Amino acid sequence: MDAVIFAGNSNPDLATKIASNLKLPLGKAEIIRFADSECRVRIEEDVEGKTVFIIQSLSNPVDEHLMEFLLMGDAVKRGEPKKMVAVLPYHGYARQDRIHRPGECLSALVVAKMIESVGFDKLVTLELHNESILGFFKIPVVHISGLEIFRVRVKELEGEVVVITPDAGALKRSQKFAESLDLPLALIEKKRDLDRAHKILSMRVVGEVKGKTAIIVDDVIVTGGTLMNAAFLLKEKGAKKVIAAATHADFVGGADKILQDSPLDAVWVTDTIYIPPAKNFPKLKISSITSDLSAAAGKMIK
Ligand code: R5P
Repeated sequence: MDAVIFAGNSNPDLATKIASNLKLPLGKAEIIRFADSECRVRIEEDVEGKTVFIIQSLSNPVDEHLMEFLLMGDAVKRGEPKKMVAVLPYHGYARQDRIHRPGECLSALVVAKMIESVGFDKLVTLELHNESILGFFKIPVVHISGLEIFRVRVKELEGEVVVITPDAGALKRSQKFAESLDLPLALIEKKRDLDRAHKILSMRVVGEVKGKTAIIVDDVIVTGGTLMNAAFLLKEKGAKKVIAAATHADFVGGADKILQDSPLDAVWVTDTIYIPPAKNFPKLKISSITSDLSAAAGKMIK
C-alpha cells in the first residue's frame, strides 16, 4: 500500500482505530523530549512517493501537541512523500478566530500559516469553532461536522425536544443541527469577561424550553463552565431534561466532576480528544469519530 499513517502522542488510540479501519500501517517515528522540553522527531519509515497522513489532536497541552505535529510534518516532508495530509481531529487555537480587543493576536491565522509552511498538501479537521477560519488556509480543507453522530441519539428521545445554542457564536452550528432534525431552537445569550479567561458574566434564555428536553449543542467542552451554567438556567426555566452534545471534550481541571454534579442529565461527546479513564464519568457517553475520519482519508488514497 502506498499510504501510511503517523500518529502524534495526543490521541494514538484514535489513530490506531483509523489505521485499522483503513487497513493502513501505522508508521514508526521516534519522538523524544530533551531535558529542556524541546521535541525532536525522526521518521523511521521510507515515505518517498507515498500518501502520508499525520494524525494529531491539538488538545491540551496544545503547544506541545502543535509543535510535535509540525516537526512530524517537517520530518515526513523531507522524505519526499507524494502527498502529506494533516488530520487534526481537534483543531486547537480555532476559537481564537477573531480579534476581540485592540492589540490582540489572530492566533488561528498564525497556526494556519504554520501548518502550511511545513508543506502539508491538505487538512482534514472536525467541528471548527467557526467555519470562517477555513478562509485562513490556502490548501484545501475537508471540514467534517462531528455533530452528525448525535443525530441518531436525538431521534431516539421521547417527548418534545428543543435545540439550544449556548452562545451567539454557536448559532450557525445549532441552527443547522435543529433544521436537520426539524426541531425548534432556543438561544442562550452568554456574555464573557474578555479580560478574564473562562469567566462568564451573564446568561439568559431566549425561547421556549418548559417541559422539553433541551439539547445544548457546542463545539468543545473545556472547564465545563458553559454547560454547567446553561444546565442550571435551563432547568430553572422548566426544561424537563438537559443534554449536552459537544464534539470535542478537552476536559481541564475538575470538568468531569463539575459536569457529573451539574443538573445535566447526559453529556455526549466524541473521541476526537483522548479521554483518560480517570476523566470518564457516569453521565458521559463517548461516540467514536473513527468512521467519519476514515471515510475522509480513504477518499484520498483511491
Ligand atoms: C465558546 O465559545 C466555545 O464554543 C465553548 O462554549 C467554550 O469554549 C466551552 O468552554 P468551557 O467548557 O470552559 O465553558
